[in-house]
Amino acid sequence: MPKITWILHDGRSISAEVAVGHNLMEAAVANSVPEVIGECGGCLSCATCHVYVDPAWYEKTGGPGDMESEMLEITSAERRSVSRLSCQIKASEELDGLVLHVPHI
Ligand code: FES
Repeated sequence: MPKITWILHDGRSISAEVAVGHNLMEAAVANSVPEVIGECGGCLSCATCHVYVDPAWYEKTGGPGDMESEMLEITSAERRSVSRLSCQIKASEELDGLVLHVPHI
């Protein structure tokens, strides 16, 4: 299973193995990653699953789709070029080692 690491704003990190196909908002919630809320359950209507993809990984995760990009305009923390909504990223073997930075909200 791919290993995903979330880096918190205070420098702490949480890592977990996530089953292929699971989205990374659900994985964050399941692993008690603070400040990834996932209020809408992953239906692209809350933006509370905002993360900054580590720049080294951004291309592999692909960019946001149109609806996701619209939702990224209403995130609590500033939008950056590496912003994604983690409910829209699915774990895959290609993403083994992925690092996500959690914005402070
Ligand atoms: Fe609501 Fe991702 S969980 S937009």
